[in-house]
Amino acid sequence: MRPAAYHSHFNPVQSAYRRLNFTKSILNFSPTSAMDQPRNTKAPWRDLLDSHLKQNSGYEFNIATIAHDSNGDPVPRVRTCGCRGFFPELELHPSGQKDMDEQVAEAQNPPVYESDMLTFTTDARMEKLDQLKSSARAIEAMFWLKDTMTQWRVKGRAYHIGGPSDPEKKFYEHLARDQIGKGLRVKEDQDGDTAKWTWESAVTRYFANHSPVMRGSFRNPPPGQPRSEEPSGPNLKLGQRVTDLYDPIARGNFRVVVIIAEDVERIDLSNQEDVQREKWTYVESSHGLGHWKNADLWP
Ligand SMILES: Cc1cc2nc3c(=O)[nH]c(=O)nc-3n(C[C@H](O)[C@H](O)[C@H](O)COP(=O)(O)O)c2cc1C
Repeated sequence: MRPAAYHSHFNPVQSAYRRLNFTKSILNFSPTSAMDQPRNTKAPWRDLLDSHLKQNSGYEFNIATIAHDSNGDPVPRVRTCGCRGFFPELELHPSGQKDMDEQVAEAQNPPVYESDMLTFTTDARMEKLDQLKSSARAIEAMFWLKDTMTQWRVKGRAYHIGGPSDPEKKFYEHLARDQIGKGLRVKEDQDGDTAKWTWESAVTRYFANHSPVMRGSFRNPPPGQPRSEEPSGPNLKLGQRVTDLYDPIARGNFRVVVIIAEDVERIDLSNQEDVQREKWTYVESSHGLGHWKNADLWP
């Protein structure tokens, strides 16, 4: 027999609510909270990371993905990449801007959007894109920013754009634009026309941000293949300079990778006696809404 106190505290409304929550948890349903906002609302860590990046002279980051060995077991892969800031904002080098003015002219994007999504560029022939494809797009990006004595780890999912948009192959490109588009927000205090903004022009701007020699690297022989093997055509060779922003071979290989963060962690080593470790986790609700949960952790 249950103790009397159990009956005296029994509340049918609370009980029904508990049953409802239990059912929701079974269905993997996370209820919205008062803090929930659209995915493109500015993340609480964004300005701090941005200010740390600006205080450091150069910022490469390490990009980790998951590959699979010959047994099909997951294995880590990591490499250095140049961080290109938050998509789609990019301050061009004057010569890159000149190329945009001459070759893209009126079709340049108005500076209407910003986001919390870090970017880097890559060659579609490298391994990381296939690894993203075969591992639910899982990625981890890590900075050690020595000038601010801070390590930042950004875990999430990455999508790449700049691929073929012809009818047969456009499925992935559209999926990627759709996912990245959810993270774009219109900047405050701007009067540009969002209808004039295009994905094509955004990718071209990233290509223009590379020097002619770096643009030429997208016409290199296939990355990672033995030098002893002849490239498939005479157009693929080292040391080419590309001034044409629409060079079909280079643009055929050029991609912009955009990271949608789900978990961000900062370790501040500036005071060795009191190292700070702070973590933000994105908690998504079932209505396309969510919020960042913040926690201070022991280092
Ligand atoms: C300083 C530095 C910056 C680099 N930047 C990039 C970059 O922005 N994008 C990129 O794909 N590779 C970059 N690389 C080359 C990569 O580290 C790596 O060798 C290449 O991407 C092939 O990797 P994967 O085959 O695992 O994809 C950079 C290397 C160094 C040392």
